[in-house]
Amino acid sequence: MAHFSKDFLWGGAVAANQWEGGWNLDGRGPAMTDVTTGGTVNTPRLITYIDKDGNHGTLTRGQKLPEGAKYAVLPEYHYPNHDAVDGYHHYKEDIALFGEMGFKQFRMSISWSRLFPTGLEEEPVQAGVEFYRDMFKEMRKNNIEPLVTIWHFDTPLYLEEHCGGWLNRETIDHFVRFAKTCFTEYKGLVHNWLTFNEINNTIMFLSLRENSDEAYQNAYQHLHYQFVASAKAVQVGHAIDPTNQIGCMICGIARYPATCDPKDILANRHGWEQNIFYCGDVQCKGEYGTYAKRLWNEHGVKLDITEEDLEELKKGTVDMYTFSYYMSNLITTHKVSDMVGGNFSLGARNEYLQYSDWGWATDPIGLQYYLEMIYDRYHKPIMVVENGLGAYDTVEEDGSIHDPFRIDYYRVHIEAMDKALENGVDLIGYTTWGCIDVVSAGTGEMRKRYGFIYVDMDDEGKGSMARSRKDSFFWYKKVIASNGEDLA
Ligand code: BG6
Repeated sequence: MAHFSKDFLWGGAVAANQWEGGWNLDGRGPAMTDVTTGGTVNTPRLITYIDKDGNHGTLTRGQKLPEGAKYAVLPEYHYPNHDAVDGYHHYKEDIALFGEMGFKQFRMSISWSRLFPTGLEEEPVQAGVEFYRDMFKEMRKNNIEPLVTIWHFDTPLYLEEHCGGWLNRETIDHFVRFAKTCFTEYKGLVHNWLTFNEINNTIMFLSLRENSDEAYQNAYQHLHYQFVASAKAVQVGHAIDPTNQIGCMICGIARYPATCDPKDILANRHGWEQNIFYCGDVQCKGEYGTYAKRLWNEHGVKLDITEEDLEELKKGTVDMYTFSYYMSNLITTHKVSDMVGGNFSLGARNEYLQYSDWGWATDPIGLQYYLEMIYDRYHKPIMVVENGLGAYDTVEEDGSIHDPFRIDYYRVHIEAMDKALENGVDLIGYTTWGCIDVVSAGTGEMRKRYGFIYVDMDDEGKGSMARSRKDSFFWYKKVIASNGEDLA
């Protein structure tokens, strides 16, 4: 007998920049993803610009724009997020397919620059506001509850380029104005919200790119402003509609020490603090953990934090903890010969686990471990709002798509959630990532597919955008209909 409650929120998730497309339609302004090319598992995505002499150039994430240069869309590159999978024109069809699968909840995000093209406007673009309103109405028609991420990696490019982005305290106010617009416009249509997607990414993946004190200074400052922005948005959201449930969203990578060397045990613990607890503690408990001082001191970080900020953090704690879960990593202080390759993976290879083609370890026990640990820490309702396997799909001659590997992945993770429920975790929802194929955030590829629904679109931007049902579509439909009972 499975332990999912009768109103458990089964569903799927996407993000505006990876699903919507329509990047320059109806008054939308660009975001960083619109000047970002595709990459592969081994080659990074590039950010494109024109320098002050008119020469074309590229950067990788974290690198600074040269003096006088401007971000630009260049004709010699393909930008996968421009059209993505055209949810902008297919949302009715996509939501109907989610309805057919029996979704109770669909997680999506609102593109900030579709409402506020530069981020600085006082009033939103009406076409953008109506686009999302119509989408929410469509979800309601299909008995699907929206779960709305307010920020999913898409600060308007103008704010990033001309105003210092999240290193400028004023960005807090621009974000809160955006969030307030969402809470006001969609009052009654949306009850469940997330402020920042994978807020901890800023610190978690930093050491993969660079390790300078300046980089840490910027990362912790950026996070502090986002914490304050989130706390203020939570208060505004509650004031506008007290029934709103507003959550944090953490990139939940479970981590284990690779050996029983006490140095590895401590390094692993410190890794949990820096990468997972740092953000969750501020957003759930309303204050920085005791270890925060150590983390700052390690890199000589001096933050702009005011007394008023600390008050805001206390008043703006979230109602629920949500996280993405794809994999676990091994942490060690020892030199290892067998490192895991692939985007976003860190550390040594775990010989007990299998790895995906992108180097991500399949580890359902890590999900149970994470759920139990986090629930015990915060005692707030939890949702797993991303989980899935990025994999290659093959379309057969008759158009069918057989994806047993995806079904196997989901089965063991749903079983893990069931165990956590049995052990007392207040898990209230599950939205699988990329329930319809979308552009990969990490690599910009289309061939890294997660969906139950296949989209005919390739890495070069060729395809009809037609949707078709994979085998996993019918399987997930059965899982939802049986409320997690029938996983065969
Ligand atoms: C999370 C993000 O990092 O993982 C999503 O919230 C992303 O936006 C997902 O798509 C999977 O990562 P990727 O790189 O396979 O798209």
